[in-house]
Amino acid sequence: MEFSTTTARAEAVKADAIAVGVFADGELTPSARAIDKAARGAIKAAVKSGDMTGKRGTVVTLRSVPGVAAARVVVVGLGGRDDFSDRAYGDAVRAAAKACPGAAEVAIAATEWNVKGRDAEWQARQFALAARETVFRSDELKSKKEESNGPTRAVLLHAAGDAAERGLKQGTAIANGMALTKRLGNLPPNICTPSFLADEARKLAKHWKLGVEVLETKQLEALKMGSFLSVARGSAQPPRLIVLKHQGGGKSAPVVLVGKGITFDSGGISIKPGAAMDEMKFDMCGAASVIGTMRTVAELKLKLNVIGVVATCENMPSGTASRPGDIVTSMSGQTIEILNTDAEGRLILCDALTYVERYKPAAVVDIATLTGACVIALGNVNSGLFANNDELAEELLGASRSAGDAAWHMPLGDEYQEQLKTNFADMANIGTPSNAGAITAACFLSRFTKAYPWAHIDIAGTAWKSGAAKGATGRPVPLLSQFLMQRAG
Ligand code: BES
Ligand code: MN
Ligand code: ZN
Repeated sequence: MEFSTTTARAEAVKADAIAVGVFADGELTPSARAIDKAARGAIKAAVKSGDMTGKRGTVVTLRSVPGVAAARVVVVGLGGRDDFSDRAYGDAVRAAAKACPGAAEVAIAATEWNVKGRDAEWQARQFALAARETVFRSDELKSKKEESNGPTRAVLLHAAGDAAERGLKQGTAIANGMALTKRLGNLPPNICTPSFLADEARKLAKHWKLGVEVLETKQLEALKMGSFLSVARGSAQPPRLIVLKHQGGGKSAPVVLVGKGITFDSGGISIKPGAAMDEMKFDMCGAASVIGTMRTVAELKLKLNVIGVVATCENMPSGTASRPGDIVTSMSGQTIEILNTDAEGRLILCDALTYVERYKPAAVVDIATLTGACVIALGNVNSGLFANNDELAEELLGASRSAGDAAWHMPLGDEYQEQLKTNFADMANIGTPSNAGAITAACFLSRFTKAYPWAHIDIAGTAWKSGAAKGATGRPVPLLSQFLMQRAG
């Protein structure tokens, strides 16, 4: 989907469809009024008849409207004027973009849909993001491709100037990053293996001129990543540590993103129950979000050094898999008693988090589908945000709000650290069962991140959807991109 802007009057816009808004009190937005006037009351008639109530997310399509150049007029319900929120704006854009499956070019008068506290750049960025969301498909592995049923061009009406152009550019780059993240997340675990992810990273690096390094088993052994390797050992698929580098910030300290890339989490010897086990292909969504964000960063040519690190392997049961009770030595030298082989994410991340010390990072953010407990705590709405640095946490929360990619600040603390005590090693890999599991997982990671400002985002509830809408969401690419855009200034 391409984006452009026009300053033409609503009734004169030549497009397959033009979308204009009506509030719940029946009040027409300026472009709706202009079209209504040109069309001798066609929109007011739709409101009066009750066809268009102005209720949020509803649409009415009028065809061959006299006095209007566009082939269709889509009237979009915006909901209440006073509670017209970030989310209502996105809903309205999505409703408009989805309203005419047959229309190739849709003009949308979204610049008139003002959200309190949001500027033209935000409006254009969220416009592109919401519109792109409606056309994403996962049909790569279907023998018959789905007919593309969505606009190929979306025109933002009356959006003139640098702010709008900037916003559309940002929104496009973020949408591209999200689409890559979704694609990788949705691919099946027999195709999307650790070496496949490494190949995808290499392709991305080549296209966008990023630096890339891929470390294989031998190199991980030389680095003494005993914890990471213990997880990989149960699988026939060899592990990979992938490093992508964007050099946009001269000699300044980089921001490092670290992603959990378990391409399938069976639980290992502590095997998971069978129900919905297929969804454990999504256990590499943290890794996918790092790769997707690196794409966005490269496309935007951010004036910032950003390093993306992905630790990827499979968690499988086998004769060579870790047993509950095994003790392994991490790259940091700290020993870990594996009491549950299903708590594998932290075992691969801890070594990646030690590895990135070499970059002397300004900040490290890890992203992981780490705990079922985080889903219990925050559902599918908020990602869980943990940090050893309050300023970094606030920065990420601000980015989260601005991006409409919700996150909630969760605690760490010595009282929780106690749960990781064991008689036999420096720490256990799990705390007390059914007791603050998202927090004890973060506490575990915090023991490997003392050298730099660090945040951890648990996306177990937000990285994918189950049920009829099953699929990766592309989160938290918007949050991460916004954070990095803000850092780049
Ligand atoms: N990948 C899972 C976490 C997960 C579970 C994400 C369900 C989304 C939905 C992780 O590796 C895991 O299995 N964690 C265990 C930890 C436990 C054994 C301490 C969990 O959450 O049950
Ligand atoms: Mn697991
Ligand atoms: Zn896992």
